[in-house]
Amino acid sequence: AHFEDDEGTVKQQLSKLFETSLKITLPDEPTIAPVVKICSGKFGDYQCNNAMDCWAKVKGKNTEFKASEMIESSSVTGPGFVNVTLPNKWIAKTIQKMLEKGMRIWAPKLRVSRAVVDFSSPNIAKELHVGHLMSTIIGDIIARLLEYSNVEVLRRNHVGDWGTQFGMLIEYLFEMFPDWENAGEQAIGDLQAFYKASKLKFESDPVFKAKSQQGVVLLQGGDKKYLKAWSTICEISRQEFHQLYERLGVSLMEKSESFYKPYIPKVLEGLSNQGLVEENDEARVIFIEAEEIPLIVVKRDGAYNYASTDLTALWYRLNEEKAEWILYVTDDGQEKHFKMSFYLLLLFFWLQVAKRAGWLPADENLYPKASHLMFGVVRGDDKKRLRTRFGDVIRLVDLLDGAKTRCKAELVNRGKAEEWTADELEQIAEAIGYGAVKYMDLKANILTGYKFDFDLMLNDKGNTAVCLQYAHARICSIIERSGQDIEELKKLDEEEERTLGLHIQFAEVVEETCLTLRPNVLCDYLYNLSEHFVIGSPKQTSRLLLCEATAVVMRQGFHLLGIVPVNKI
Ligand code: ARG
Repeated sequence: AHFEDDEGTVKQQLSKLFETSLKITLPDEPTIAPVVKICSGKFGDYQCNNAMDCWAKVKGKNTEFKASEMIESSSVTGPGFVNVTLPNKWIAKTIQKMLEKGMRIWAPKLRVSRAVVDFSSPNIAKELHVGHLMSTIIGDIIARLLEYSNVEVLRRNHVGDWGTQFGMLIEYLFEMFPDWENAGEQAIGDLQAFYKASKLKFESDPVFKAKSQQGVVLLQGGDKKYLKAWSTICEISRQEFHQLYERLGVSLMEKSESFYKPYIPKVLEGLSNQGLVEENDEARVIFIEAEEIPLIVVKRDGAYNYASTDLTALWYRLNEEKAEWILYVTDDGQEKHFKMSFYLLLLFFWLQVAKRAGWLPADENLYPKASHLMFGVVRGDDKKRLRTRFGDVIRLVDLLDGAKTRCKAELVNRGKAEEWTADELEQIAEAIGYGAVKYMDLKANILTGYKFDFDLMLNDKGNTAVCLQYAHARICSIIERSGQDIEELKKLDEEEERTLGLHIQFAEVVEETCLTLRPNVLCDYLYNLSEHFVIGSPKQTSRLLLCEATAVVMRQGFHLLGIVPVNKI
Protein backbone atom coordinates (compact mmCIF):
# COMPACT_ATOMS: atom_id res chain seq x y z
CA ALA A 1 0.00 0.00 0.00
CA HIS A 2 1.18 3.47 -0.76
CA PHE A 3 1.65 5.92 2.05
CA GLU A 4 3.26 9.24 2.75
CA ASP A 5 6.86 9.36 3.90
CA ASP A 6 5.89 10.57 7.31
CA GLU A 7 3.17 8.01 7.95
CA GLY A 8 3.24 4.41 9.07
CA THR A 9 5.48 3.01 11.77
CA VAL A 10 8.82 4.54 12.65
CA LYS A 11 10.33 1.34 11.28
CA GLN A 12 8.57 1.81 7.95
CA GLN A 13 9.66 5.42 7.74
CA LEU A 14 13.25 4.57 8.54
CA SER A 15 13.39 1.71 6.12
CA LYS A 16 12.14 4.01 3.40
CA LEU A 17 14.89 6.40 4.28
CA PHE A 18 17.49 3.63 4.16
CA GLU A 19 16.19 2.56 0.81
CA THR A 20 16.36 6.04 -0.66
CA SER A 21 19.88 6.45 0.67
CA LEU A 22 20.91 3.21 -1.00
CA LYS A 23 19.34 4.27 -4.23
CA ILE A 24 21.27 7.50 -4.17
CA THR A 25 24.54 5.64 -3.62
CA LEU A 26 23.84 2.85 -6.08
CA PRO A 27 21.42 4.21 -8.62
CA ASP A 28 21.72 1.25 -10.97
CA GLU A 29 21.48 -1.67 -8.54
CA PRO A 30 18.20 -3.32 -7.60
CA THR A 31 17.75 -2.52 -3.91
CA ILE A 32 17.27 -4.99 -1.12
CA ALA A 33 14.54 -3.98 1.27
CA PRO A 34 16.22 -2.86 4.48
CA VAL A 35 14.85 -4.51 7.63
CA VAL A 36 14.64 -2.07 10.49
CA LYS A 37 14.11 -3.10 14.11
CA ILE A 38 13.91 -1.45 17.46
CA CYS A 39 17.45 -1.35 18.80
CA SER A 40 17.99 -3.86 21.55
CA GLY A 41 21.35 -2.41 22.64
CA LYS A 42 22.43 0.97 23.87
CA PHE A 43 23.71 2.22 20.52
CA GLY A 44 20.57 3.88 19.31
CA ASP A 45 16.80 3.72 19.08
CA TYR A 46 16.52 1.69 15.86
CA GLN A 47 18.84 -0.49 13.86
CA CYS A 48 19.04 -1.89 10.39
CA ASN A 49 19.94 -5.54 10.62
CA ASN A 50 20.48 -6.51 7.05
CA ALA A 51 22.81 -3.59 6.45
CA MET A 52 25.43 -6.20 5.58
CA ASP A 53 23.46 -7.32 2.57
CA CYS A 54 22.40 -3.86 1.58
CA TRP A 55 25.77 -2.32 2.07
CA ALA A 56 28.03 -5.07 0.76
CA LYS A 57 27.93 -3.54 -2.66
CA VAL A 58 28.24 -0.08 -1.28
CA LYS A 59 31.68 -0.84 0.20
CA GLY A 60 34.26 1.68 -0.80
CA LYS A 61 31.64 4.12 -1.86
CA ASN A 62 30.66 6.91 0.38
CA THR A 63 27.22 6.06 1.67
CA GLU A 64 25.36 9.04 2.92
CA PHE A 65 21.99 9.16 4.53
CA LYS A 66 19.68 11.30 2.62
CA ALA A 67 19.51 14.34 4.83
CA SER A 68 16.61 13.72 7.15
CA GLU A 69 15.22 15.30 10.22
CA MET A 70 14.62 11.78 11.48
CA ILE A 71 18.26 11.13 12.22
CA GLU A 72 20.16 12.66 15.09
CA SER A 73 23.17 10.40 14.70
CA SER A 74 24.04 7.03 13.25
CA SER A 75 26.80 4.52 13.84
CA VAL A 76 27.91 1.12 12.64
CA THR A 77 28.48 -1.65 15.16
CA GLY A 78 29.19 -5.38 15.06
CA PRO A 79 28.93 -7.08 11.69
CA GLY A 80 27.48 -4.07 9.99
CA PHE A 81 24.48 -3.08 12.07
CA VAL A 82 23.55 0.47 11.36
CA ASN A 83 22.20 2.16 14.45
CA VAL A 84 20.12 5.26 14.40
CA THR A 85 19.25 7.67 17.15
CA LEU A 86 16.16 9.77 16.65
CA PRO A 87 16.33 13.46 17.48
CA ASN A 88 14.29 14.62 20.46
CA LYS A 89 12.88 17.32 18.29
CA TRP A 90 11.56 14.80 15.78
CA ILE A 91 9.92 12.72 18.50
CA ALA A 92 8.26 15.83 19.87
CA LYS A 93 7.13 16.81 16.41
CA THR A 94 5.42 13.49 15.61
CA ILE A 95 3.58 13.65 18.89
CA GLN A 96 2.49 17.18 18.18
CA LYS A 97 1.32 16.13 14.75
CA MET A 98 -0.64 13.20 16.15
CA LEU A 99 -2.35 15.50 18.65
CA GLU A 100 -3.37 17.77 15.81
CA LYS A 101 -4.38 15.21 13.22
CA GLY A 102 -5.51 12.35 15.40
CA MET A 103 -4.45 8.74 15.90
CA ARG A 104 -5.15 7.86 12.27
CA ILE A 105 -1.66 8.98 11.35
CA TRP A 106 -0.20 6.37 13.68
CA ALA A 107 -1.90 3.48 11.95
CA PRO A 108 0.49 0.92 10.48
CA LYS A 109 0.29 0.16 6.77
CA LEU A 110 -0.32 -3.49 6.06
CA ARG A 111 0.12 -5.38 2.83
CA VAL A 112 -3.52 -6.40 2.53
CA SER A 113 -6.41 -4.18 1.66
CA ARG A 114 -9.35 -6.52 2.28
CA ALA A 115 -9.78 -9.28 4.83
CA VAL A 116 -12.51 -11.62 6.02
CA VAL A 117 -12.66 -12.32 9.73
CA ASP A 118 -14.85 -15.37 10.38
CA PHE A 119 -15.75 -15.26 14.04
CA SER A 120 -18.41 -15.98 16.66
CA SER A 121 -20.28 -18.24 14.21
CA PRO A 122 -22.65 -20.01 16.58
CA ASN A 123 -25.08 -22.73 15.56
CA ILE A 124 -28.81 -22.15 15.41
CA ALA A 125 -30.71 -23.50 18.40
CA LYS A 126 -27.60 -24.82 20.03
CA GLU A 127 -25.97 -23.28 23.04
CA LEU A 128 -23.74 -20.24 22.87
CA HIS A 129 -20.86 -21.31 25.04
CA VAL A 130 -17.76 -19.65 26.43
CA GLY A 131 -15.87 -20.71 23.33
CA HIS A 132 -18.24 -18.62 21.23
CA LEU A 133 -17.79 -15.70 23.62
CA MET A 134 -14.03 -15.94 23.19
CA SER A 135 -14.34 -16.19 19.44
CA THR A 136 -16.65 -13.16 19.43
CA ILE A 137 -14.31 -11.07 21.56
CA ILE A 138 -11.07 -12.09 19.86
CA GLY A 139 -12.53 -11.84 16.35
CA ASP A 140 -13.88 -8.38 17.07
CA ILE A 141 -10.49 -7.23 18.35
CA ILE A 142 -8.68 -8.58 15.30
CA ALA A 143 -11.21 -6.85 13.07
CA ARG A 144 -10.73 -3.58 14.95
CA LEU A 145 -6.95 -3.81 14.66
CA LEU A 146 -7.14 -4.44 10.94
CA GLU A 147 -9.72 -1.72 10.40
CA TYR A 148 -7.54 0.77 12.22
CA SER A 149 -4.71 -0.29 9.90
CA ASN A 150 -6.84 0.72 6.91
CA VAL A 151 -7.81 -2.81 5.92
CA GLU A 152 -11.38 -3.24 4.77
CA VAL A 153 -12.74 -5.97 7.01
CA LEU A 154 -15.71 -8.19 6.22
CA ARG A 155 -16.85 -9.28 9.65
CA ARG A 156 -18.47 -12.61 8.97
CA ASN A 157 -20.77 -14.54 11.23
CA HIS A 158 -20.70 -18.03 9.72
CA VAL A 159 -23.86 -19.14 11.51
CA GLY A 160 -24.59 -22.88 11.44
CA ASP A 161 -28.12 -22.72 10.05
CA TRP A 162 -28.18 -25.72 7.78
CA GLY A 163 -27.95 -29.33 8.82
CA THR A 164 -29.79 -32.48 9.66
CA GLN A 165 -30.86 -31.21 13.10
CA PHE A 166 -33.47 -29.04 11.42
CA GLY A 167 -35.59 -32.03 10.51
CA MET A 168 -36.26 -32.83 14.13
CA LEU A 169 -36.60 -29.19 15.18
CA ILE A 170 -39.21 -28.50 12.53
CA GLU A 171 -41.23 -31.66 13.22
CA TYR A 172 -41.13 -30.84 16.91
CA LEU A 173 -42.35 -27.34 16.18
CA PHE A 174 -45.30 -28.76 14.19
CA GLU A 175 -46.21 -31.18 16.97
CA MET A 176 -45.84 -28.96 19.98
CA PHE A 177 -46.98 -25.65 18.55
CA PRO A 178 -49.73 -26.25 15.98
CA ASP A 179 -50.25 -22.49 15.92
CA TRP A 180 -46.58 -21.82 15.17
CA GLU A 181 -47.26 -19.77 12.05
CA ASN A 182 -48.92 -17.08 14.12
CA ALA A 183 -47.17 -17.40 17.40
CA GLY A 184 -44.06 -19.48 16.83
CA GLU A 185 -41.51 -17.00 18.03
CA GLN A 186 -43.30 -16.20 21.25
CA ALA A 187 -44.31 -19.80 21.91
CA ILE A 188 -40.89 -21.39 21.70
CA GLY A 189 -39.25 -18.97 24.09
CA ASP A 190 -36.20 -20.85 25.23
CA LEU A 191 -34.72 -22.33 22.10
CA GLN A 192 -32.08 -24.36 23.85
CA ALA A 193 -34.69 -26.13 25.94
CA PHE A 194 -36.64 -26.66 22.75
CA TYR A 195 -33.59 -28.20 21.13
CA LYS A 196 -33.01 -30.53 24.07
CA ALA A 197 -36.61 -31.68 24.18
CA SER A 198 -36.77 -32.36 20.46
CA LYS A 199 -33.52 -34.26 20.61
CA LEU A 200 -34.88 -36.40 23.43
CA LYS A 201 -37.95 -37.24 21.37
CA PHE A 202 -35.81 -37.94 18.34
CA GLU A 203 -33.79 -40.48 20.26
CA SER A 204 -36.68 -42.21 22.01
CA ASP A 205 -39.46 -42.16 19.43
CA PRO A 206 -38.79 -44.10 16.20
CA VAL A 207 -41.86 -42.71 14.42
CA PHE A 208 -40.79 -39.16 15.19
CA LYS A 209 -37.29 -39.98 14.09
CA ALA A 210 -38.45 -41.25 10.71
CA LYS A 211 -40.60 -38.16 10.24
CA SER A 212 -37.67 -35.92 11.10
CA GLN A 213 -35.49 -37.58 8.52
CA GLN A 214 -38.14 -37.05 5.88
CA GLY A 215 -38.39 -33.47 7.10
CA VAL A 216 -34.76 -32.85 6.22
CA VAL A 217 -35.38 -34.06 2.70
CA LEU A 218 -38.43 -31.82 2.35
CA LEU A 219 -36.54 -28.83 3.71
CA GLN A 220 -33.59 -29.35 1.43
CA GLY A 221 -35.97 -29.83 -1.47
CA GLY A 222 -37.32 -26.35 -0.80
CA ASP A 223 -40.79 -27.20 0.58
CA LYS A 224 -42.47 -23.87 1.42
CA LYS A 225 -43.92 -24.86 4.77
CA TYR A 226 -40.65 -26.40 5.93
CA LEU A 227 -38.68 -23.40 4.80
CA LYS A 228 -40.98 -21.13 6.71
CA ALA A 229 -40.62 -23.19 9.87
CA TRP A 230 -36.87 -23.21 9.39
CA SER A 231 -36.68 -19.45 9.13
CA THR A 232 -38.93 -19.03 12.18
CA ILE A 233 -36.51 -21.09 14.23
CA CYS A 234 -33.47 -19.26 12.84
CA GLU A 235 -35.03 -15.92 13.63
CA ILE A 236 -35.40 -16.75 17.33
CA SER A 237 -31.75 -17.71 17.55
CA ARG A 238 -30.71 -14.63 15.70
CA GLN A 239 -32.47 -12.39 18.18
CA GLU A 240 -30.68 -14.07 21.03
CA PHE A 241 -27.28 -13.74 19.35
CA HIS A 242 -28.01 -10.15 18.54
CA GLN A 243 -28.61 -9.30 22.18
CA LEU A 244 -25.21 -10.64 23.09
CA TYR A 245 -23.45 -8.73 20.31
CA GLU A 246 -25.19 -5.57 21.33
CA ARG A 247 -24.01 -5.97 24.87
CA LEU A 248 -20.47 -6.62 23.83
CA GLY A 249 -20.51 -3.75 21.36
CA VAL A 250 -19.60 -6.12 18.55
CA SER A 251 -20.84 -5.73 15.01
CA LEU A 252 -21.06 -8.74 12.71
CA MET A 253 -22.53 -9.50 9.33
CA GLU A 254 -24.28 -12.81 9.02
CA LYS A 255 -23.45 -14.94 6.02
CA SER A 256 -24.62 -18.25 7.30
CA GLU A 257 -23.98 -21.74 5.96
CA SER A 258 -27.19 -21.69 3.93
CA PHE A 259 -25.98 -18.60 2.07
CA TYR A 260 -23.30 -20.61 0.28
CA LYS A 261 -25.62 -23.43 -0.79
CA PRO A 262 -26.39 -22.12 -4.27
CA TYR A 263 -22.68 -21.84 -5.04
CA ILE A 264 -21.71 -25.36 -4.00
CA PRO A 265 -22.43 -27.19 -7.29
CA LYS A 266 -20.41 -24.73 -9.31
CA VAL A 267 -17.45 -24.85 -6.96
CA LEU A 268 -17.46 -28.64 -6.87
CA GLU A 269 -17.72 -28.74 -10.63
CA GLY A 270 -14.65 -26.57 -10.88
CA LEU A 271 -12.76 -28.85 -8.53
CA SER A 272 -13.96 -31.88 -10.51
CA ASN A 273 -12.72 -30.34 -13.74
CA GLN A 274 -9.35 -29.95 -12.12
CA GLY A 275 -9.46 -33.66 -11.38
CA LEU A 276 -9.61 -33.17 -7.62
CA VAL A 277 -12.96 -34.83 -6.90
CA GLU A 278 -13.20 -38.63 -7.04
CA GLU A 279 -15.81 -41.31 -6.53
CA ASN A 280 -15.24 -43.26 -3.36
CA ASP A 281 -17.65 -45.77 -1.91
CA GLU A 282 -20.56 -44.05 -3.69
CA ALA A 283 -19.68 -40.68 -2.20
CA ARG A 284 -17.71 -37.94 -3.88
CA VAL A 285 -14.50 -37.12 -2.12
CA ILE A 286 -11.31 -35.12 -2.36
CA PHE A 287 -8.14 -36.91 -1.36
CA ILE A 288 -5.62 -35.05 0.69
CA GLU A 289 -2.32 -36.29 -0.69
CA ALA A 290 -0.14 -36.41 2.36
CA GLU A 291 -2.86 -37.85 4.57
CA GLU A 292 -4.40 -40.27 2.14
CA ILE A 293 -7.68 -39.42 3.78
CA PRO A 294 -10.73 -38.79 1.62
CA LEU A 295 -12.66 -35.65 2.48
CA ILE A 296 -16.30 -36.24 1.65
CA VAL A 297 -17.85 -33.35 -0.24
CA VAL A 298 -21.00 -35.04 -1.48
CA LYS A 299 -22.54 -37.73 0.69
CA ARG A 300 -23.87 -40.99 -0.67
CA ASP A 301 -27.42 -39.68 -0.62
CA GLY A 302 -26.33 -36.72 -2.70
CA ALA A 303 -26.44 -34.25 0.19
CA TYR A 304 -23.75 -31.69 0.89
CA ASN A 305 -22.01 -31.36 4.23
CA TYR A 306 -19.86 -28.99 6.26
CA ALA A 307 -16.87 -29.62 4.06
CA SER A 308 -18.67 -28.68 0.88
CA THR A 309 -20.17 -25.59 2.54
CA ASP A 310 -16.94 -24.37 4.07
CA LEU A 311 -14.91 -25.02 0.95
CA THR A 312 -17.45 -23.01 -0.97
CA ALA A 313 -17.34 -20.24 1.63
CA LEU A 314 -13.57 -20.10 1.21
CA TRP A 315 -13.95 -19.99 -2.55
CA TYR A 316 -16.55 -17.23 -2.28
CA ARG A 317 -14.40 -15.14 0.01
CA LEU A 318 -11.39 -15.40 -2.26
CA ASN A 319 -13.08 -15.11 -5.62
CA GLU A 320 -16.26 -13.15 -5.12
CA GLU A 321 -15.30 -10.99 -2.19
CA LYS A 322 -11.66 -10.75 -3.26
CA ALA A 323 -10.35 -10.98 0.26
CA GLU A 324 -6.59 -11.25 0.53
CA TRP A 325 -6.54 -12.53 4.07
CA ILE A 326 -9.08 -14.88 5.62
CA LEU A 327 -8.98 -15.41 9.33
CA TYR A 328 -10.88 -18.13 11.15
CA VAL A 329 -11.27 -17.53 14.85
CA THR A 330 -12.11 -20.81 16.59
CA ASP A 331 -10.93 -22.61 19.66
CA ASP A 332 -8.16 -25.13 19.59
CA GLY A 333 -10.42 -28.15 19.62
CA GLN A 334 -9.25 -29.48 22.94
CA GLU A 335 -11.46 -30.79 25.66
CA LYS A 336 -14.69 -30.04 23.97
CA HIS A 337 -17.53 -31.54 22.16
CA PHE A 338 -16.74 -33.34 18.99
CA LYS A 339 -17.87 -30.76 16.56
CA MET A 340 -15.25 -28.12 17.08
CA SER A 341 -12.29 -30.45 16.85
CA PHE A 342 -13.98 -31.79 13.78
CA TYR A 343 -13.92 -28.27 12.39
CA LEU A 344 -10.28 -27.98 13.15
CA LEU A 345 -9.51 -31.02 11.11
CA LEU A 346 -11.70 -29.81 8.31
CA LEU A 347 -10.07 -26.43 8.26
CA PHE A 348 -6.77 -28.11 7.70
CA PHE A 349 -8.36 -29.99 4.83
CA TRP A 350 -9.90 -26.97 3.14
CA LEU A 351 -6.64 -25.17 3.12
CA GLN A 352 -4.95 -28.16 1.51
CA VAL A 353 -7.65 -28.36 -1.10
CA ALA A 354 -7.52 -24.62 -1.72
CA LYS A 355 -3.79 -24.84 -2.33
CA ARG A 356 -4.13 -27.80 -4.65
CA ALA A 357 -6.85 -26.00 -6.58
CA GLY A 358 -4.60 -22.99 -6.87
CA TRP A 359 -6.96 -20.68 -4.96
CA LEU A 360 -4.22 -20.03 -2.44
CA PRO A 361 -0.48 -19.92 -3.10
CA ALA A 362 1.51 -22.81 -1.66
CA ASP A 363 3.91 -20.41 0.02
CA GLU A 364 2.27 -19.27 3.24
CA ASN A 365 4.19 -16.01 3.27
CA LEU A 366 2.32 -14.87 0.21
CA TYR A 367 -1.16 -13.43 -0.10
CA PRO A 368 -3.94 -14.30 -0.44
CA LYS A 369 -3.67 -16.38 2.63
CA ALA A 370 -5.84 -18.05 5.23
CA SER A 371 -4.94 -18.10 8.90
CA HIS A 372 -6.41 -19.95 11.76
CA LEU A 373 -6.54 -17.97 14.96
CA MET A 374 -6.86 -20.57 17.64
CA PHE A 375 -7.48 -20.01 21.29
CA GLY A 376 -7.43 -22.23 24.33
CA VAL A 377 -10.29 -23.04 26.60
CA VAL A 378 -11.57 -20.96 29.53
CA ARG A 379 -11.18 -23.04 32.65
CA GLY A 380 -13.04 -23.13 35.90
CA ASP A 381 -11.63 -23.81 39.37
CA ASP A 382 -11.31 -27.50 38.60
CA LYS A 383 -8.99 -26.72 35.69
CA LYS A 384 -11.66 -28.08 33.36
CA ARG A 385 -13.76 -26.18 30.92
CA LEU A 386 -15.84 -23.57 32.70
CA ARG A 387 -19.25 -24.86 33.77
CA THR A 388 -22.00 -23.87 36.14
CA ARG A 389 -22.50 -25.52 39.49
CA PHE A 390 -25.00 -27.81 37.85
CA GLY A 391 -22.54 -28.90 35.21
CA ASP A 392 -24.23 -26.91 32.47
CA VAL A 393 -22.32 -24.86 30.02
CA ILE A 394 -22.10 -21.39 31.47
CA ARG A 395 -24.24 -18.63 29.99
CA LEU A 396 -22.16 -15.79 28.70
CA VAL A 397 -24.55 -13.14 29.81
CA ASP A 398 -24.17 -14.35 33.38
CA LEU A 399 -20.43 -13.76 33.26
CA LEU A 400 -20.92 -10.22 32.02
CA ASP A 401 -23.65 -9.54 34.58
CA GLY A 402 -21.45 -10.95 37.32
CA ALA A 403 -18.56 -8.67 36.46
CA LYS A 404 -20.77 -5.62 36.30
CA THR A 405 -22.52 -6.37 39.59
CA ARG A 406 -19.22 -6.76 41.37
CA CYS A 407 -17.85 -3.53 39.96
CA LYS A 408 -20.94 -1.67 40.97
CA ALA A 409 -20.78 -3.01 44.52
CA GLU A 410 -17.14 -1.92 44.76
CA LEU A 411 -17.94 1.58 43.50
CA VAL A 412 -20.85 1.91 45.94
CA ASN A 413 -18.52 0.75 48.68
CA ARG A 414 -16.20 3.61 47.82
CA GLY A 415 -18.99 6.13 48.16
CA LYS A 416 -19.51 6.74 44.46
CA ALA A 417 -23.27 6.36 44.71
CA GLU A 418 -23.34 9.72 46.52
CA GLU A 419 -20.83 11.36 44.21
CA TRP A 420 -22.21 10.32 40.83
CA THR A 421 -25.61 10.16 39.23
CA ALA A 422 -27.29 6.75 39.04
CA ASP A 423 -26.68 6.68 35.27
CA GLU A 424 -23.00 7.38 35.68
CA LEU A 425 -22.72 4.62 38.21
CA GLU A 426 -24.38 2.15 35.84
CA GLN A 427 -22.31 3.17 32.85
CA ILE A 428 -18.99 3.17 34.65
CA ALA A 429 -19.67 -0.17 36.35
CA GLU A 430 -20.56 -1.66 32.99
CA ALA A 431 -17.54 -0.24 31.17
CA ILE A 432 -15.18 -1.52 33.86
CA GLY A 433 -16.90 -4.87 34.28
CA TYR A 434 -17.30 -5.80 30.64
CA GLY A 435 -13.84 -4.43 29.88
CA ALA A 436 -12.37 -6.63 32.60
CA VAL A 437 -13.89 -9.79 31.11
CA LYS A 438 -12.67 -8.93 27.63
CA TYR A 439 -9.20 -7.98 28.78
CA MET A 440 -8.85 -11.26 30.63
CA ASP A 441 -9.61 -13.09 27.39
CA LEU A 442 -6.92 -11.17 25.59
CA LYS A 443 -4.04 -10.55 27.91
CA ALA A 444 -2.86 -14.12 28.20
CA ASN A 445 -1.39 -15.85 25.22
CA ILE A 446 -4.76 -16.73 23.71
CA LEU A 447 -3.57 -20.20 22.79
CA THR A 448 -3.10 -21.29 26.37
CA GLY A 449 -6.54 -20.19 27.55
CA TYR A 450 -6.97 -19.01 31.11
CA LYS A 451 -8.70 -19.67 34.39
CA PHE A 452 -11.83 -17.63 34.89
CA ASP A 453 -11.51 -15.71 38.14
CA PHE A 454 -13.53 -12.62 39.02
CA ASP A 455 -11.17 -11.58 41.83
CA LEU A 456 -8.18 -11.68 39.53
CA MET A 457 -9.75 -9.82 36.66
CA LEU A 458 -11.24 -7.11 38.88
CA ASN A 459 -8.06 -6.50 40.82
CA ASP A 460 -6.97 -2.89 40.57
CA LYS A 461 -3.29 -3.83 40.70
CA GLY A 462 -1.22 -5.66 38.14
CA ASN A 463 -1.93 -6.19 34.47
CA THR A 464 -5.72 -5.87 34.50
CA ALA A 465 -8.21 -3.70 32.66
CA VAL A 466 -9.23 -2.14 35.96
CA CYS A 467 -5.65 -1.05 36.63
CA LEU A 468 -5.43 0.46 33.15
CA GLN A 469 -8.73 2.26 33.63
CA TYR A 470 -7.32 3.77 36.83
CA ALA A 471 -4.14 4.87 35.07
CA HIS A 472 -6.15 6.51 32.31
CA ALA A 473 -8.57 8.21 34.72
CA ARG A 474 -5.59 9.53 36.71
CA ILE A 475 -4.05 11.10 33.61
CA CYS A 476 -7.38 12.68 32.71
CA SER A 477 -7.61 14.24 36.13
CA ILE A 478 -4.01 15.58 35.97
CA ILE A 479 -4.91 17.36 32.75
CA GLU A 480 -8.16 18.66 34.12
CA ARG A 481 -6.61 19.97 37.33
CA SER A 482 -3.78 21.75 35.56
CA GLY A 483 -6.34 24.08 34.07
CA GLN A 484 -3.79 25.05 31.41
CA ASP A 485 -4.33 25.35 27.74
CA ILE A 486 -2.27 22.87 25.85
CA GLU A 487 -0.08 24.58 23.28
CA GLU A 488 2.73 23.10 21.33
CA LEU A 489 5.17 20.36 22.12
CA LYS A 490 8.55 21.75 21.08
CA LYS A 491 11.04 19.49 22.75
CA LEU A 492 11.47 16.71 25.23
CA ASP A 493 14.06 17.78 27.73
CA GLU A 494 14.47 14.99 30.14
CA GLU A 495 15.41 11.38 29.72
CA GLU A 496 12.10 10.10 31.08
CA GLU A 497 10.17 12.35 28.74
CA ARG A 498 12.15 10.99 25.84
CA THR A 499 11.55 7.40 26.91
CA LEU A 500 7.83 8.00 27.19
CA GLY A 501 7.83 9.93 23.91
CA LEU A 502 9.39 6.98 22.13
CA HIS A 503 7.21 4.40 23.81
CA ILE A 504 4.14 6.28 22.72
CA GLN A 505 4.82 5.58 19.00
CA PHE A 506 1.79 3.36 18.70
CA ALA A 507 1.90 2.09 15.13
CA GLU A 508 4.65 -0.45 15.80
CA VAL A 509 2.70 -2.30 18.43
CA VAL A 510 -0.46 -2.43 16.35
CA GLU A 511 1.51 -3.76 13.42
CA GLU A 512 3.10 -6.46 15.55
CA THR A 513 -0.27 -7.42 17.05
CA CYS A 514 -1.78 -7.74 13.57
CA LEU A 515 1.05 -9.75 12.11
CA THR A 516 1.45 -12.11 15.05
CA LEU A 517 -2.30 -12.21 15.70
CA ARG A 518 -1.59 -11.99 19.40
CA PRO A 519 -3.74 -9.42 21.19
CA ASN A 520 -1.61 -9.82 24.31
CA VAL A 521 1.12 -7.82 22.55
CA LEU A 522 -1.17 -4.80 22.68
CA CYS A 523 -2.23 -5.54 26.27
CA ASP A 524 1.38 -5.74 27.43
CA TYR A 525 2.16 -2.53 25.63
CA LEU A 526 -0.67 -0.66 27.34
CA TYR A 527 0.34 -2.03 30.69
CA ASN A 528 3.95 -0.91 30.12
CA LEU A 529 2.73 2.47 28.98
CA SER A 530 0.80 2.92 32.22
CA GLU A 531 3.95 1.90 34.12
CA HIS A 532 6.17 4.26 32.10
CA PHE A 533 3.88 7.04 32.93
CA VAL A 534 5.63 8.45 36.00
CA ILE A 535 5.62 12.03 35.08
CA GLY A 536 6.96 14.56 37.60
CA SER A 537 5.47 18.00 37.75
CA PRO A 538 2.85 18.43 35.05
CA LYS A 539 3.30 22.20 35.28
CA GLN A 540 5.45 22.42 32.18
CA THR A 541 3.45 22.48 29.00
CA SER A 542 5.66 19.82 27.45
CA ARG A 543 4.71 17.44 30.21
CA LEU A 544 1.08 18.26 29.92
CA LEU A 545 1.22 17.51 26.23
CA LEU A 546 2.82 14.18 26.96
CA CYS A 547 0.01 13.47 29.41
CA GLU A 548 -2.50 14.29 26.74
CA ALA A 549 -0.75 12.12 24.14
CA THR A 550 -0.51 9.22 26.59
CA ALA A 551 -4.23 9.47 27.31
CA VAL A 552 -5.04 9.57 23.59
CA VAL A 553 -2.89 6.50 22.93
CA MET A 554 -4.46 4.65 25.85
CA ARG A 555 -7.96 5.42 24.64
CA GLN A 556 -7.10 4.22 21.16
CA GLY A 557 -5.63 1.07 22.69
CA PHE A 558 -8.81 0.55 24.73
CA HIS A 559 -10.88 1.08 21.65
CA LEU A 560 -8.92 -1.54 19.75
CA LEU A 561 -9.44 -3.95 22.62
CA GLY A 562 -13.15 -3.22 22.63
CA ILE A 563 -12.98 -1.60 26.07
CA VAL A 564 -14.89 1.58 26.88
CA PRO A 565 -12.58 3.99 28.75
CA VAL A 566 -13.88 5.89 31.76
CA ASN A 567 -12.46 9.24 32.80
CA LYS A 568 -13.28 8.90 36.44
CA ILE A 569 -13.34 5.88 38.64
N1 ARG B 1 -20.46 -23.04 13.84
C1 ARG B 1 -19.25 -23.64 14.34
C2 ARG B 1 -19.44 -24.00 15.84
O1 ARG B 1 -20.01 -23.28 16.58
C3 ARG B 1 -18.03 -22.80 14.12
C4 ARG B 1 -17.81 -22.34 12.69
C5 ARG B 1 -16.46 -21.78 12.45
N2 ARG B 1 -16.34 -21.17 11.15
C6 ARG B 1 -16.28 -21.85 10.00
N3 ARG B 1 -16.17 -21.22 8.87
N4 ARG B 1 -16.30 -23.14 10.00
O2 ARG B 1 -19.04 -25.04 16.29
